[in-house]
Amino acid sequence: DVQRSLVLVKPDGVRRGLSGEVLRRIETKGYTLAAVELRTATAEILADHYAEHEGKPFYGPLVEFMLSGPVLAVVIEGERCIEGFRALAGATDPTVALPGTIRGDLGRDWGLAVQQNIVHGSDSPESAAREIGIWFPNL
Ligand code: CMP
Repeated sequence: DVQRSLVLVKPDGVRRGLSGEVLRRIETKGYTLAAVELRTATAEILADHYAEHEGKPFYGPLVEFMLSGPVLAVVIEGERCIEGFRALAGATDPTVALPGTIRGDLGRDWGLAVQQNIVHGSDSPESAAREIGIWFPNL
């Protein structure tokens, strides 16, 4: 199935100048870019985007972190790209993410209340449709 997925280069990735590196890995894998936009998130967008995490101990720090600077919002497209991008991204915790992945190669744990793990990628077709609707309502 040709799918679309929402990818975010989070504020840590943008600050560290890794936006191009993330796009390069997506494109080298063979996925196409359907939308790319540098944006600053809002509390409203994040409340929707992270609705499933509301109430978890890292929720407050997560929202604060995601508001700390611009994010690169990206829609990618390709056969099974939802699963494929998650494989590219690696495990949530960058300390244990395998080398070869974005988080494994470029990330580490900084001992903060929230994992600053460079990228987000939708985890299912349902999440992808929901998240693309939140970030790119006109797409
Ligand atoms: P993301 O895929 O964007 O979804 C939720 C985010 O919360 C996740 O990436 C991490 O940045 C962060 N996160 C998830 N689990 C934890 C955790 N146990 N402790 C701290 N931060 C977390």
